[in-house]
Amino acid sequence: MGSLTKAVLAAGCIASAAAVNVQVKSSGGNSTSHYGVKYGYGFLHEDINNSGDGGIYAELIQNRAFQYSDAYPVSTDHYYPINGAGLSIQFLGKPLSDALPASMRVNAANGTGAVGFENEGYWGMDVKQQKYTGSFWVKGAYDGSFTASLKSNLTDDVFGSVEIESKSVANDWTEHEFVLEPTEDAPNSNNTFAVTFDPAGTSNGTLDFNLISLFPPTYKDRKNGLRIDLAEALEGLNPSFLRFPGGNMLEGLTLGTEWDWKDTLGPLKNRPGFQGVWGYQQTHGLGIVEYLEWAEDMGLEIVVGCYAGLALDGNFTTPEELKPFIDDCLNEIEFIKGPADSEWGSRRAELGHPEPYKLDYVEVGNEDWLAGYPAGWESYKQYRFPMFYEALKAAHPEITVVGSAASSDPGGIDPITLELNNATDVVTYPEDVLGDYHPYREPDELVYEFDRFDNDYGHIIGEVAATHVNNGTRWEDGLYYFPWWIGSVGEAVSLIGYERNSDRIPGTFYAPVLRNMNRWQWAITILQFAADPALTTRSTSWYVWSLFAHHPITHTLPTNGGYGPVWWGAGVDEDRNGAKVWKGACYNTTDGADEAVSVRFEGVKRGQKATLTLLTNPGGDPYDYNDPLEGNNIVQSETQVLIADRKGSFHFNMPQLSVAVLDTDVEVEAPGGKPKPGHGKPGHGKPGHGKPPGYGKPPGYGRK
Ligand SMILES: *[C@@H]1O[C@H](CO)[C@@H](O)[C@H](O)[C@H]1NC(C)=O
Ligand SMILES: *[C@@H]1O[C@H](CO)[C@@H](O)[C@H](O)[C@H]1NC(C)=O
Ligand SMILES: *[C@@H]1O[C@H](CO)[C@@H](O)[C@H](O)[C@H]1NC(C)=O
Ligand SMILES: *[C@@H]1O[C@H](CO)[C@@H](O)[C@H](O)[C@H]1NC(C)=O
Ligand SMILES: *[C@@H]1O[C@H](CO)[C@@H](O)[C@H](O)[C@H]1NC(C)=O
Ligand SMILES: *[C@@H]1O[C@H](CO)[C@@H](O)[C@H](O)[C@H]1NC(C)=O
Ligand SMILES: *[C@@H]1O[C@H](CO)[C@@H](O)[C@H](O)[C@H]1NC(C)=O
Ligand SMILES: *[C@@H]1O[C@H](CO)[C@@H](O)[C@H](O)[C@H]1NC(C)=O
Ligand SMILES: *[C@@H]1O[C@H](CO)[C@@H](O)[C@H](O)[C@H]1NC(C)=O
Ligand SMILES: *[C@@H]1O[C@H](CO)[C@@H](O)[C@H](O)[C@H]1NC(C)=O
Repeated sequence: MGSLTKAVLAAGCIASAAAVNVQVKSSGGNSTSHYGVKYGYGFLHEDINNSGDGGIYAELIQNRAFQYSDAYPVSTDHYYPINGAGLSIQFLGKPLSDALPASMRVNAANGTGAVGFENEGYWGMDVKQQKYTGSFWVKGAYDGSFTASLKSNLTDDVFGSVEIESKSVANDWTEHEFVLEPTEDAPNSNNTFAVTFDPAGTSNGTLDFNLISLFPPTYKDRKNGLRIDLAEALEGLNPSFLRFPGGNMLEGLTLGTEWDWKDTLGPLKNRPGFQGVWGYQQTHGLGIVEYLEWAEDMGLEIVVGCYAGLALDGNFTTPEELKPFIDDCLNEIEFIKGPADSEWGSRRAELGHPEPYKLDYVEVGNEDWLAGYPAGWESYKQYRFPMFYEALKAAHPEITVVGSAASSDPGGIDPITLELNNATDVVTYPEDVLGDYHPYREPDELVYEFDRFDNDYGHIIGEVAATHVNNGTRWEDGLYYFPWWIGSVGEAVSLIGYERNSDRIPGTFYAPVLRNMNRWQWAITILQFAADPALTTRSTSWYVWSLFAHHPITHTLPTNGGYGPVWWGAGVDEDRNGAKVWKGACYNTTDGADEAVSVRFEGVKRGQKATLTLLTNPGGDPYDYNDPLEGNNIVQSETQVLIADRKGSFHFNMPQLSVAVLDTDVEVEAPGGKPKPGHGKPGHGKPGHGKPPGYGKPPGYGRK
């Protein structure tokens, strides 16, 4: 009940004596356009434990091409025989391609009637009445037809099937394509995809298969595209940036196993896959073209990481060995933004995109201060970064080079005094370079770091998230279970701090973004998902980031200080007719009481309107989170139109642990839809906050 009272008060907008009085000047702030783009929120994507394969990459078949690497042997994992068929891996004299030398032999053996195989997907498959587009390659003479079907793994139900006339011949590989449209929705995602044939039509009961692929409808209808529900959930953040391919994935575990963009080009049969760094073989299906299309389809700026000669085992290249990687980075840039008649630009054109993509940021390596410290870091400072920088600047003066360390790496800073822990060990970049800051923090630390960038050079915040609970032990105790409310509010305070300095901080990236609930090791991601789209879950942080990103600014506006327990920043958006925006977060009020806030924008007159969007957790437990298995949402979003009083001030209350945006553009589309006009009482959606028993929790991880 207490929380209900709180929420009603918050909606009341009657604050007699405002404890927090904000005056926003109408000019004199700093512009955010220094780097040519609007300040934005984005995310880091890398294929971290099935967030690409089996994640946003929509392919439904797991182990579709029997790919392997030194770390992961080739196998028929995830396939099951139908009707007694024998399934075995073959390396045929005539493989499907050099990239895909292994294939699967299906031997009818003693089976009678149709034989074949089924694939269980990535922990199941979502089966609905929609068009699935599939293909497979076969070798071996076969006079007859194949049957492709989507069926239950629990019952005998077949939800849809299609007959495909065989074109298969004895001595060559032939591709068979089909469209499969189930006649009913499956009740759950415990389904498989099956292919069968009649051994009587073959010469000896044996056929060889490879590259078995099945896609549901994809985001923006792209061939080889993205899973719609996940892409739409990311689009719902109103993002402006995509940083790819990593992250650790860029680096590889050892020298020579880094993500190689060239291996990801063209038809799937030319993509070898690679071992990645997250404990499983990857397909290369989500390649550089797919990343670029993703960015294009969502209107995102990109930050591309170039491999800079450091592996996660700490091994690094000598200056002599570095040159090919620098050339490779320049080729990658040419592939992305070179003219269609350049060497790599023409390759892009050949692959269907003659127009160059936009590319303003190239990052050199990833966290070069971490793996291989101190020698690897020394090599970055002494020659790896300088050599890349010089070559990049000479070829592309228009590109902003991003170094993979922040001004405070590797020693870090004291979160309160902002003193460097080890000033002798930091990098000195040329003036036009941006650093990259990766704060994975406790909520309190994110609040302390509000002013972290007030007196620093430019950075991207390439990875940030609240990951650990407030007890000062950070990594020793492991990550919390999911993004949680106090963590998300802590993020809001740091985000406001970055945005206040957006003349030097062009973008901030949540990382990592996706967690497959069947296979993960990093608990804190902005979305969680499984095969069943009903489990796709927007975390508490998703609501905070989405709210901030839906209210962009082109300039900051000066305001008075006096921060804590409310932290804020203000700005103006010239692209929305000079809309004025105030963003605030409330953290640690006295005795958990509400804070009365008044905001006065210089020049705003009595009667003028502004929308207030307020995010709260009415349940009141700071440790609450949105749980995919519970399908709950603990975040309440209320939007209402406020009217300026006779002094031009807007008044409202902020409960303990809340996030707010006030925007004079009353038409702006909020994440939750258009604002409600007038002073109507906000709806009290019932956010559940029951706690699941021990689901996915590290042992001994008690709640406060
Ligand atoms: C086929 O049947 C025979 C006799 O029952 C058995 O010995 C043989 O192992 C079977 N072959 C396969 C591949 O299952
Ligand atoms: C159905 O699939 C889910 C997700 O992989 C799994 O957790 C569950 O155990 C499966 N159910 C059965 C009855 O196999
Ligand atoms: C399908 O059933 C098999 C055998 O019971 C089981 O091993 C597998 O995990 C199931 N897969 C799914 C997606 O339910
Ligand atoms: C069946 O014939 C193919 C050639 O068409 C051959 O490669 C394969 O070894 C034969 N399989 C068996 C089980 O004899
Ligand atoms: C990926 O997830 C699996 C299953 O949870 C885990 O065993 C593996 O260690 C993870 N990979 C990494 C690199 O942590
Ligand atoms: C570093 O990588 C090189 C090249 O792959 C290899 O020869 C060398 O053994 C590696 N050194 C260490 C310490 O792993
Ligand atoms: C500080 O940096 C120096 C120079 O790299 C290094 O030798 C020293 O070990 C570092 N000290 C600490 C406490 O990390
Ligand atoms: C919030 O309050 C707690 C308890 O008084 C205190 O330990 C913590 O430092 C405060 N956090 C911030 C960011 O001020
Ligand atoms: C930009 O504005 C912020 C917040 O007012 C301030 O802290 C920062 O120093 C300003 N930056 C510059 C370069 O003036
Ligand atoms: C920190 O908090 C976690 C989660 O509540 C708990 O498991 C751990 O024991 C705490 N550590 C300390 C040193 O208090």
